[in-house]
Amino acid sequence: MSDEKKIESMQKDGQVFQPDESMQGQAWIKSMADYEAEHERAMNDPEGYWGERAKDLLSWFSDFDKVLEADYDKPEFKWFAGGKTNVSYNCLDRHLTNGRRNKAALIWQGEPEEDTRVYSYQMLHTEVCRFANVLKKKGVKRGDRVALYMPMIPELAIAMLACTRLGAPHSIVFAGFSSIALQSRIEDSEARVLITADAVLRAGKTIPLKPNADEALKDCPSVEQCIVVKRGGNDVDMVEGRDCWWHDEINAEDITSDCPCEEMDAEDPLFILYTSGSTGKPKGVLHTTGGYLTYAAHTTQYVFDVKDDDVYWCTADVGWITGHSYIVYGPLALGATSVMFEGVPSFPKPDRYWQIVDKFKVNIFYTAPTVIRALMREGEEWTKHYDLSSLRLLGSVGEPINPEAWLWYHKNIGGGRLPIVDTWWQTETGGIMISALPYATPLKPGSATRPLPGIAAKIVRRDGSPADPNEGGHLIIDKPWPGMLRNVWGDSERYKTTYFAGFPGAYESGDGARYDDDGYFWIMGRLDDVINVSGHRMGTAEIESALVAHEDVTEAAVVGMPHEVKGETIYAYVTLKAGVEPDDDMVKNLKIWVRKEIGPIATPEFIQFADGLPKTRSGKIMRRVLRKIVEGSGDFGDTSTLADPSVVTDLVEGNKDLV
Ligand code: WTA
Repeated sequence: MSDEKKIESMQKDGQVFQPDESMQGQAWIKSMADYEAEHERAMNDPEGYWGERAKDLLSWFSDFDKVLEADYDKPEFKWFAGGKTNVSYNCLDRHLTNGRRNKAALIWQGEPEEDTRVYSYQMLHTEVCRFANVLKKKGVKRGDRVALYMPMIPELAIAMLACTRLGAPHSIVFAGFSSIALQSRIEDSEARVLITADAVLRAGKTIPLKPNADEALKDCPSVEQCIVVKRGGNDVDMVEGRDCWWHDEINAEDITSDCPCEEMDAEDPLFILYTSGSTGKPKGVLHTTGGYLTYAAHTTQYVFDVKDDDVYWCTADVGWITGHSYIVYGPLALGATSVMFEGVPSFPKPDRYWQIVDKFKVNIFYTAPTVIRALMREGEEWTKHYDLSSLRLLGSVGEPINPEAWLWYHKNIGGGRLPIVDTWWQTETGGIMISALPYATPLKPGSATRPLPGIAAKIVRRDGSPADPNEGGHLIIDKPWPGMLRNVWGDSERYKTTYFAGFPGAYESGDGARYDDDGYFWIMGRLDDVINVSGHRMGTAEIESALVAHEDVTEAAVVGMPHEVKGETIYAYVTLKAGVEPDDDMVKNLKIWVRKEIGPIATPEFIQFADGLPKTRSGKIMRRVLRKIVEGSGDFGDTSTLADPSVVTDLVEGNKDLV
């Protein structure tokens, strides 16, 4: 296509923002020609490309023999086999001798303004070694799992790095999950130790956390020890023989700051992170040592263009994959300065983020569309109270960013000039897969643009044939990459069926997408029964099983309802047992019930009681119809297979009363 034609077709999709040429000289990838060349090289010689990246980015105790062994049938993927390394070594020790010893590794801003802590690489190293020695004293050995259920405090990063130092895989459970969700995740990973805190500080409140841990541990026989960080200062019950305080342990006389790193195999498990899928039980996504860290560091370098004197801030919670890869592992592997914030964007006022940007002179800022939409609603005046001129690069993750939010972000935070990298990826991919390169890629608001070099992202039809431009299809990746998940913890069968059965020889993302005429990717959202609430993945089946576990419920169906700020919100159809009153109290009870079963993020916003749900004659609930109802669409498509079409009319009436 000629350049002229290209530009014409780009404009059809809306505005295009060209990269800032004055920044190209210093960038890792300087132009689209650079990108194309690197992409081509990586696709033609993946082993050469990724082998080089792994050596450039990480320090290895001994070299790997083979870059990649891939078997899609089993499936089994091994990256950098034979190589020995350690994640804590790469994130800390090597920076002590490369000139970064006194550089800030972590800048932590607590929820109260006066709570700020800065750790240099040396200080973080000392704390991590001391805490690793505490874990050792508690009997934690290579291969043992450690569960972390903690607020956004430095001890969380310290605990993660201490685990990796010993080769003990961590399993972080987001502190917003309930005791029941925590219990099932601990049980699945069979963790020996739980690390938690007395409380979470959030929006001016002290929310007790330890009681949830206590409740969960009633039914977790694998956990022998529980280490508690004092954060809120609230009263907690300590169980003799099981519970101890972080500060007592780390300050004990026999704890030194000398703790050698375990030499781990590249394919040794690094961490497990549970994520929702299309069945009721969350999947323990397993990432391993060498490939994950290479990929986290590689993508942090290319996508965020991190330089040594940058202050980089990703606003995610470390309890999610974004926090793992882009607050802790990617930035620290590169020796960057990473900001970690305990609070929320709207407290005490909706300018807290901008106040923090100004305070630390943040250069690179990475957040989620839901945050942007929420702040948009508060009005752009709030963005004007602080000096945002330190910023040079903005990022977005978690869900498609609607062009309106993109443009607001660009104008009000980016001063109409900064690049926005819209990064598509998943817990399973370990790192960013499709994204603009900030000083090379022309940007189109709402498009994640192009796959990163070496990422074989394709959009295909159900039969595997390539989708045409502008035809929606399945987003798959048909070459391995170092950051890919290696298994579902304890369930290889599920690993295979979920990710590798749909499209032989490829990884199935579960997302729908389309290309435009320029080959730009536009992500359309999940194709399975997963909904995206404020960038958090929730399995509808998980919420449904929580609802039907209630004694008064016979049946439940959950769908995502479009929501202005959250992207989607949870809408539940519930059939009650005969004789149970479908009143407001019942709605309240069920909401409380789901909070308790899973956590506040899973609470349905709407609960509609229904005498019956639309089912096929074989008894399958037709979710398509339920989705159409909450979207307010009158067009239900073909409903001729419904056993009883009249239920739809009743449901539409009920929906009108509710929303
Ligand atoms: C969605 C978060 C569009 C997508 C890193 C994916 C996105 C799911 C984007 C993974 C984006 C994430 N544009 N959709 N930039 N980023 N998603 O595992 O549906 O929490 O499958 O990983 O979020 O969510 P997860």
